Amino acid sequence: MANIIIIGMQWGDEGKGKIVDLLTEFADVVVRFQGGNNAGHTVVVGQQTVILHLIPSGALYPEKKCLIGNGVVVDPQVLLGEMDELQKRGYFKNDDQLLISEDAHLIMPYHRRMDVARERMKGEGKIGTTGRGIGPAYEDKAAREGIRFGDLLDEEAFREKLKANLSVKNPCLETCLHDKGFDLEAIFQEYIGYAGRLKKYVGNTSVFIDRQMKQGRHILFEGAQGTHLDVDHGTYPFVTSSNTVAGGACTGAGIGPTKISEVIGVSKAYTTRVGGGPFPTELKDEVGEKLRERGREFGATTGRPRRCGWVDIPLLKDAIRLNGLTGIALTKMDVLSEFETIRICTSYRYQGQRYEEVPSPAKVLQECQPVYEEIPGWKAELKNIRNFEDLPPRARDYVRHVEELTDTEVILVSVGERREETILRRNPFRHGPRKS
Ligand code: GDP
Ligand code: IMO
Ligand code: MG
Repeated sequence: MANIIIIGMQWGDEGKGKIVDLLTEFADVVVRFQGGNNAGHTVVVGQQTVILHLIPSGALYPEKKCLIGNGVVVDPQVLLGEMDELQKRGYFKNDDQLLISEDAHLIMPYHRRMDVARERMKGEGKIGTTGRGIGPAYEDKAAREGIRFGDLLDEEAFREKLKANLSVKNPCLETCLHDKGFDLEAIFQEYIGYAGRLKKYVGNTSVFIDRQMKQGRHILFEGAQGTHLDVDHGTYPFVTSSNTVAGGACTGAGIGPTKISEVIGVSKAYTTRVGGGPFPTELKDEVGEKLRERGREFGATTGRPRRCGWVDIPLLKDAIRLNGLTGIALTKMDVLSEFETIRICTSYRYQGQRYEEVPSPAKVLQECQPVYEEIPGWKAELKNIRNFEDLPPRARDYVRHVEELTDTEVILVSVGERREETILRRNPFRHGPRKS
């Protein structure tokens, strides 16, 4: 039995979807445990490119069970749209494939409107959220005012909760945020309609996972966003509203930490970020532009251009500590093939001091100057390489150097977007971590 968590080590979009899809072959169950449809996880298989926002990236294997855990905030309209789209493409045909936690909170129309209106009011100081209502939905959860999937199944209880919410949200939207309020009956009818379609998928995901574990099944926990977008440990306030670190898998799926076998972190061979916030290695020149073009760095959820820069070792070292990582999946190595020289940020300089870890608060990180090592590039295509030994020596050196600087094993090197464009050095479902 192996229970493995996959999380992002940077600011999201590291290629988690690709890695989860690849490793699902060896798992029985795939679980999303936090975030919502702010996530956009891309899976490329054969001629198909599928972007998943809420359904776990194991969805392309018909025999694998996909779970949406209690820690996820779910927009039912988006979920149904995603299910329809997958079914149109020939996937997700079996009703048994999906199980949604009855304790997962719902994203309501007022959450989306509040998210967008607040960003508008913040002007220049905005976070650059995805506008999907994520923050307001998690706020209601913490305020004990949220509406959960289980509530939807009891029409009268749902109406009462909705009424109580609108009595606060409507004045807030109209008076503080200068926007429009909502009609109770319209939302009620809309959501009861969703309940009709979704109720057969709702159940107790924590109990389901526990039973699967007792039967010796392999479970894959799929993180969304990235370590530095974590609400506690990220570049606050430029973060999302959930715990994106590995610990979030325990609270967000309802399992204990002793059940986890390994935590694998996904990192690009460089760095990207969407939205506002500090980014010490960001390149605002033609090198950054080249990374964006070659890496096709445009958001999978909002289509926004991603900010691009060199790999940042302090950022990765923080992720290793915060997640207890046992291995790294290094993606997009092929994107670096074009460069004569490649830079690696090994520390930061701030007011005459060296920092090897990410300093808090965000204001300090904003002013940190990256200290770089420069190494020669390999200038060769990597997409067809499947064995580590067949990589050009300089590409191998790059991977080994990342291992040395982070003191962590790179278990997988990704050389293209497709499932097969991968060098798997150690399969975590077959072999445990290297003993140090
Ligand atoms: P996620 O949010 O972490 O799942 O990542 P996204 O799907 O938002 O963004 C990653 C993008 O990089 C997607 O378009 C993937 O298809 C693509 N991708 C993943 N791995 C590789 C790789 O090794 N090389 C290249 N060129 N593209 C990759
Ligand atoms: P995946 O799972 C990259 C960013 C937004 C914004 C901040 C807060 O695909 O890696 P939110 O809507 O969550 O309140 O926005 O977080 N963000 C992401 N950036 N990838 C993601 O998900 C993201 N989800 C949220 O751009 O800066
Ligand atoms: Mg993404």
